[in-house]
Amino acid sequence: MVTIKLGKKKIKVFNLLVLIIISFGIIYALASLIFMIFSSKLSYKYNVNYDNYKVSTLVTFKNKWSSCYVTEKIKETSDYNIISKSYANDLLNDGYKINGKNTYKRVFKIKGSCKQVMNYYKDVHDPKYSLFTLNGSNNEVIEYGNNYVDPYVKGKINGKDSKDVEIRSNYNGNKIGSYVISYSLKIDKYYTKRLYRLINVVDTVKPELVLSGKSTITLDYGQKYSEPGFSATDNYDGEITNNVKVNNKVNETKPGVYKITYSVSDLSKNKVSAHRTVIINKKNSAVSKIRPDIIQKDGITYVNGIIIVNKEYSLPKDYDPKISKKAYKALKKMQNDALALGLDLSLVSGYRSYQTQKELFEKYVEKDGEELANTYSARPGQSEHQTGLAFDIGRVDKSFYDTPEAKWIDQNAHLYGFIVRYPKDKQDVTGYVYEPWHVRYLGTLIATKVWESKLTLEEYLGLK
Ligand code: DAL
Ligand code: ZN
Repeated sequence: MVTIKLGKKKIKVFNLLVLIIISFGIIYALASLIFMIFSSKLSYKYNVNYDNYKVSTLVTFKNKWSSCYVTEKIKETSDYNIISKSYANDLLNDGYKINGKNTYKRVFKIKGSCKQVMNYYKDVHDPKYSLFTLNGSNNEVIEYGNNYVDPYVKGKINGKDSKDVEIRSNYNGNKIGSYVISYSLKIDKYYTKRLYRLINVVDTVKPELVLSGKSTITLDYGQKYSEPGFSATDNYDGEITNNVKVNNKVNETKPGVYKITYSVSDLSKNKVSAHRTVIINKKNSAVSKIRPDIIQKDGITYVNGIIIVNKEYSLPKDYDPKISKKAYKALKKMQNDALALGLDLSLVSGYRSYQTQKELFEKYVEKDGEELANTYSARPGQSEHQTGLAFDIGRVDKSFYDTPEAKWIDQNAHLYGFIVRYPKDKQDVTGYVYEPWHVRYLGTLIATKVWESKLTLEEYLGLK
């Protein structure tokens, strides 16, 4: 056995070694304890807020000998959406471990003092200090079929800039859905700065619904309605004719005017509808075979039962029926329906007495002379306004021509029982210039027939 002589004592070498090791162990444990008590712990918290997700990060830095131990805890506070899913994947790739619900954690050490590390950390990690940003929006909406040009990123961190950015993306412009583009800038072994852009490919284009055959069909009483057909296609869904819903309440044995509604929606719920008018004639009345049957009663002219007022047939001076309640009610309904579409068909002029018409006409004669005045204003006794069945709506001047309101009146007034009494290019027949604002009440059946015939009232009644 090897021994060492220490003064008078002899100590075995093995025992000495054990003693030294134990002493070092005790010293190390004491030093660690002292270190734990006196070591500095820094912590740093920051939030990353994007439109689509929110992340808060708590970082603590702990000095140990000549290294700094960094602990990062990341918590997502937003709903789990497509961006946060990408974000979570990136965290796992970066060496984070799941540490509870939507919480991730990683620990690593860096040589150097924590103060330095923390400053460096702020520079590269905190969006407050970072100059790495997206060009354009982080939430793009792209119409299906349109090209998307990525506006990319800008900025610089620790000498790295946008040319060092790596892009990952699952974007597919040919498919409706949400996609993410992620831009990563690897700054060093520990830090990768990332930005995300959400791209939503949407379809807001309405399907196209085409009706075959006539838009107005007139049938004899009891004659069977047979659907002429329709087709629907959509820019995204393709052929969707089978999805067309038809609302057909035509009753072939009940005379009247019916509106068949066709409607269809695409997968993105873009809806479109179209209409067809069906007229069921009264029993024993032949389709569009009307002979003028002119009757004069108390100085008022009726053609096939319809009051007619024009340059040929005047009203007596004392005829004072006031406004027709039926016509006014129909007008209100038409105005309301138009208003729902954003069209203003306010009443400008309604019922006029003989006296009112006289004053009006005289005023125009003074301004333009009798001949010109009579192309747009009726002589007293010759104005339809004196019947209580005519209204001027919208605006009474040429600026009303070709407005959406004028077009709507032209296409829809008959459904409420009105006709445009002085149509375009018919001055030779009516005696008046085009007045898209002047409507005459005839009831839906006759108005629709006149509209469908594309004739003036005089022509339709066989007077011209
Ligand atoms: N403006 C029409 C023709 C009227 O005066 O009755
Ligand atoms: Zn008028």
